[in-house]
Amino acid sequence: MKKSTLCAIVLTVLFSACAGQKVVKQEPVQEPVGVAESGYAQSFETDNGGFFPRGGEELLTLSTESAHSGNYSLKVENRSKAWHGPSVRIEQYLEQGKEYTLSLWVKLISPNASQLQLSTQVGEGNAASYSNIARADISTASGWLQLAGTYRYDNTSSGYITVYVESSTDAPASFYIDDVQVSELISAPLVLEDLPPLKARYEGTFLIGNVIAPTGTSGQRFELLKKHFNILTAENAMKPSSLQHDKGVFTFEDVDKMIDTVRAEGFKVHGHTLAWHQQSSEWMNYDGISRDEAIDNLVTHAKTVAGHFSGKVISWDVLNEAIVDNPQHPTDWKASLRQSPWYKAIGPDYVEIVFKAAREADPEAMLYYNDYNLDNQNKSLAVYSMVKDINERNPQVNGRPLIDGIGMQGHYVTNTNPTNVRLSIERFISLGVEVSITELDIQAGSNSQLTEKQALQQGIAYANLFKIFKEYAQHIGRVTLWGLEDSSSWRAATNPLLFDKDLHAKPAFYAASDPERFIAQNEALLPQDAKRVDARYGTPTIDGAVESLWNGVPSVNVDQQLMAWQGATGTAQALWDDSNLYVLITVTGAELNKANTNAYEQDSVEIFVDENNHKTSFYEEDDGQFRVNFANEATFNPASVAGGFVSAATVSGKSYTVEIKIPFKHIQPADGTEIGYDIQINGASASGIRQSVAIWNDLTGNGYQDTSGYGILTLTAK
Ligand code: G3I
Repeated sequence: MKKSTLCAIVLTVLFSACAGQKVVKQEPVQEPVGVAESGYAQSFETDNGGFFPRGGEELLTLSTESAHSGNYSLKVENRSKAWHGPSVRIEQYLEQGKEYTLSLWVKLISPNASQLQLSTQVGEGNAASYSNIARADISTASGWLQLAGTYRYDNTSSGYITVYVESSTDAPASFYIDDVQVSELISAPLVLEDLPPLKARYEGTFLIGNVIAPTGTSGQRFELLKKHFNILTAENAMKPSSLQHDKGVFTFEDVDKMIDTVRAEGFKVHGHTLAWHQQSSEWMNYDGISRDEAIDNLVTHAKTVAGHFSGKVISWDVLNEAIVDNPQHPTDWKASLRQSPWYKAIGPDYVEIVFKAAREADPEAMLYYNDYNLDNQNKSLAVYSMVKDINERNPQVNGRPLIDGIGMQGHYVTNTNPTNVRLSIERFISLGVEVSITELDIQAGSNSQLTEKQALQQGIAYANLFKIFKEYAQHIGRVTLWGLEDSSSWRAATNPLLFDKDLHAKPAFYAASDPERFIAQNEALLPQDAKRVDARYGTPTIDGAVESLWNGVPSVNVDQQLMAWQGATGTAQALWDDSNLYVLITVTGAELNKANTNAYEQDSVEIFVDENNHKTSFYEEDDGQFRVNFANEATFNPASVAGGFVSAATVSGKSYTVEIKIPFKHIQPADGTEIGYDIQINGASASGIRQSVAIWNDLTGNGYQDTSGYGILTLTAK
């Protein structure tokens, strides 16, 4: 049979498989256009190629308004959830064990900026697994942008596999897609390496975990999981909307099978999660529900689920992500709670209510509060305050507090400062609770590419963290990685895991396995000493004109690029007097664009000041970030540092000069005083997106919240 005829039949099947879904344009059966020799291709010139709306309510229409190629694209509108979007079944084009390139083009319609991702789903309902293959920040000015990545379909037995586009943040985003392609990659068959099992390295130290989906209990990935890990978390299958999508209808079957299989293989199981603001069914806590009904829904769900799995899970994330990011009054935990549907329906006591329900249903399981960004000291203080208050108000039972543990998710980047992780672990331990690292991954590289240097830097980041985990092992129950290999991660594009797409160990694996050795072998990658420069004594006029006073003042080059694009660079000089610091920055090679509503994405300069030069991993009172764009519009972090700041800017072609006065507020400056200091130049593209960042000293990109990487400015020559 000719491939194209086969595909025509397949597409007919696809249409009928999607019956009931709102596919707006159903073409009569015909030869599909653009089906590749092997695989699936769709350019929407004659029909929608079997694409259907994932959520059922999105509007998909063939459109001539814009096309990446030909005349038509598929327009996607009326989305109301982040996971909504166009989806197409592709299992007919796949062979088990083979690797495929997945790619398509997207163009944003609205809002002005969003984050879109290309994902693949294997299996249906709560048996499904989801991998987010490629992700892009996109603006309406970006035009057509390609999302592409690869995925190996280790297990096709579910008979239901899709590729789809969703957004990771903006649910209402509308966009076009075009030129979808799924094609086989010729790659070597998987061979698992003979490595010392990670779980053996941490035997008696802490449990070492990973994630699983009900479709994941066979194949090479499962073999690798068995070799290295001894505890599993369901990545999605035990979330509220998976287990009780419709009120009163609990769907345990797939998860029960999965848990029986993995327990028979010797794994322990951790439950994730009884209450969360995402992946929760709307009927549970909709706008306008009465408090009593919401409490009943919460308690019924928690008790039924925790009761059902009692004896089979050792611990639960009872409540997930209840605290806002960077809370402003962290000791007031109630004021730091996220305005989630549960909070709105019940009030702050929902936290205690769900823990009590879980304890009642499963008195044995360790009950955890779980959250991300707990390296942020404000957020960790808010969590500390919450757990302290609740545990103090609830008498211990059998020597155990109501909240047994705090889960630090650990979705990190290579620049995450390990000192902040340490500080939070210490803070939580001081409460007498157990700590676990529950969703560890560390992003490095982009577009599924990782250079050798980035892989080693990622290794250093893993090694630094594992060293800390070992130090506090007595209080750490479990360290769980959020995924096995990069291509099946929720952040596949940024290569965050220990194994690569071919299931080979990355430097990160060796770093996690033997952190001390890894650090010793890669010392050259450790942070270098801070750069130094002198400031001269003098008081300039802040007018953007370069007066003679600046002549001969030491100048530094602001030219270390932090992003892939080599954009605007410049020089900076500093003067000081008894009241102020003065900085003169000259920028060249700028596009002079300030269209973006994010000030940091405009052509602008930033000065970081740490007056007492304490080099802390978080901002103290004397620390500040001052930003001025080429049109002399200033922004501040925190807002309180703005007082007394004066600036002037002049523009000449693609260059601009900014002159700045920053008052000293926390030190008495004197000859020889050293302050923490750095300069950054943000370069916007012609379409108004930040495309380059040049820095003088701190390569971590963390200067906005962490002063430990700043250079040093010495006040001289009074
Ligand atoms: O939820 C819908 C479901 O209602 C719908 O029927 C189905 C249609 O096929 O799609 C489902 O959405 C998928 C969801 O998992 C299911 O839970 C998304 O498309 C898919 O991208 C998805 O992402 C998961 C994400 O949580 C959901 O918020 C990731 O795989 C998973 O790794 C991620 O995990 C979270 C932790 O639970 C909590 N901490 C953060 C971490 C990363 O976001």
